[in-house]
Amino acid sequence: MCGIVGYIGNKNCVPILINGLKRLEYRGYDSAGIGILQDQKSLVIKNKGKVTLLEERIQNLNLISNVGIAHTRWATHGIPNELNAHPHSNHDGTLFIIHNGIIENFLVLKKNLLNQGYRFNSETDSEVLVHLIDSFIKEGNDLTKSVQLALNEVAGTYGLAVIYSGEPDKIVAARKGSPLVVGLGENENFIASDVSAILSHTKQVVYLEDGEVAVITKNSFNAKTIYNKEIEKEVHEITLTLEEIDKGGYPHFMLKEIMEQPETVRNSLRGRIVLDEGTSKLGGLIDVIDRLINAKRIIITACGTSWHAGLVGEYMIEQFCRIPTEVEYASEFRYRNPIVNKEDAILFISQSGETADTLAALQEAKMKGALVLGICNVVGSSIARETNSGVYTHAGPEIGVASTKAFTSQLVVLALISLLIARRKNMSLVDGKALAEEILAIPDKIESILKLNDKIEQIAEEFKNAKNFLYLGRGYNFPVALEGALKLKEISYIHAEGYPAAEMKHGPIALIDENMPAIFIAPKDSTYEKIISNIQEVKARGGRIIAIANEDDNEIDKLVDFSIKIPQTIRMLMPILTVIPLQLLAYHIAVKKGLNVDQPRNLAKSVTVE
Ligand code: AGP
Ligand code: GLU
Repeated sequence: MCGIVGYIGNKNCVPILINGLKRLEYRGYDSAGIGILQDQKSLVIKNKGKVTLLEERIQNLNLISNVGIAHTRWATHGIPNELNAHPHSNHDGTLFIIHNGIIENFLVLKKNLLNQGYRFNSETDSEVLVHLIDSFIKEGNDLTKSVQLALNEVAGTYGLAVIYSGEPDKIVAARKGSPLVVGLGENENFIASDVSAILSHTKQVVYLEDGEVAVITKNSFNAKTIYNKEIEKEVHEITLTLEEIDKGGYPHFMLKEIMEQPETVRNSLRGRIVLDEGTSKLGGLIDVIDRLINAKRIIITACGTSWHAGLVGEYMIEQFCRIPTEVEYASEFRYRNPIVNKEDAILFISQSGETADTLAALQEAKMKGALVLGICNVVGSSIARETNSGVYTHAGPEIGVASTKAFTSQLVVLALISLLIARRKNMSLVDGKALAEEILAIPDKIESILKLNDKIEQIAEEFKNAKNFLYLGRGYNFPVALEGALKLKEISYIHAEGYPAAEMKHGPIALIDENMPAIFIAPKDSTYEKIISNIQEVKARGGRIIAIANEDDNEIDKLVDFSIKIPQTIRMLMPILTVIPLQLLAYHIAVKKGLNVDQPRNLAKSVTVE
């Protein structure tokens, strides 16, 4: 999820690596580090915090080397600190690795390596890689073969680069699920997680695919599979500008983050579904699971989009776990002297993990003796550290101020928590397996919805001048109506309200006329007929209607002005799908209004003030 740069050639690699990391800073990170080979010796310098701190630490060391690797970390396993920063090295300091991604089976690998006498310095999953590669080198394999053998034992995702003082003329890199490119120069070659890190040096790049290993020297490059099969790779000429590259080729971070949701949801699920037991595996809850499943009440507290995720979580937990659940705005919870006791379990949802109101609510709940759990996206954030335990969303850095991929990852984690509790309570193996399979099918369904982007942009063209919007949904999709309205409000500045669809007749229907578009979230579920009645009420008053409906629903088209058809799934997971068109609609309307989509006026990505 974060930044990789490698260099081998005739120049001093240090400034090239540091400047490469600076080009990757926009992606968000928590630590930085560099590893170089210098006259058969080797050196690693790394720290929590900014690349500039790393730069200050090395500026008077007069470091000169022709081969090195550098990394910006977005922590997934192990809090941000110097020990957990990359590169990670073997015991004798001859082998260094930098790694992006998540090693799913790192605990098993770590146990085996500990039994072989290896010792670990960090809490990261990445460190198992360097010792695993080292173990194969010690068996007499060369670096490339050792990397291949090691990766044959690894489950999970990686973009990685390795250097070894025993073979100082090369960098070995490999990719599976985390992007990696090779940059080809004159008597120099590069490795990077993102072309923007090396574009100032070369426009000739080779994109590695999953399962491929690259071996680069200062004047050669070759690619093999992890099974040692030679492969021919095409060289591409980069034509994108740096600005375009920073956003993955998208015009805005928000669109990039909407479009990467199939992958971020896969990352949120990675290693966490135990299909043959029809349950989930959440390492962060192991120590508290009994207190959680025996809680007399669950309170979910958060702000903004995270609060909307909490509302969906309430439906999930009450439907599958039968534990009374309430959702509270953190800002209200913290001040109203809430009645909380040790039988309560309180979930604090926060993408940033730094929201002041949510943190204050957490401290209030802790004082009253409740079990406090975090659902955060930033590893080692204040809320994550203050809670007894919790689950990280693994959505990767979210740069756009309007939260999109973090929301869907929050819903995935809430579904995993509900499954875990339900299977410890009354859910059968068969039902658990069915639910687990539905969860695993979600990323592909998101992918199919994202293909409707052009159609949704056309709908946005129709409504870009609207002054107000109503978003309406029932049950699980009521929170999605709120979230869709918030997305539109915060980036297009159009006033929008979300309501339970049935509430319309208790007032909001007075607003309906040809200038008040209404968006109905209308999947075929138990309240579908009721939603159709609500649609007819709006239609009868001249309202224009957009419906989010299922692919097999041909009836609704006779009633509404525009329909966006999405795949079916179970009720509990439908919000993960129905929110996608609303994210895209808000995005396109805001772009058509010429607004700053990534940094809307008056908003901050993390509200650390009260
Ligand atoms: C959502 O698009 C907004 N950026 C905002 O409502 C956000 O969800 C809220 O500030 C909570 O942030 P957190 O998840 O980092 O705690
Ligand atoms: N999982 C690794 C860690 O937590 C790599 C994280 C990243 O992709 O930056 O250190």
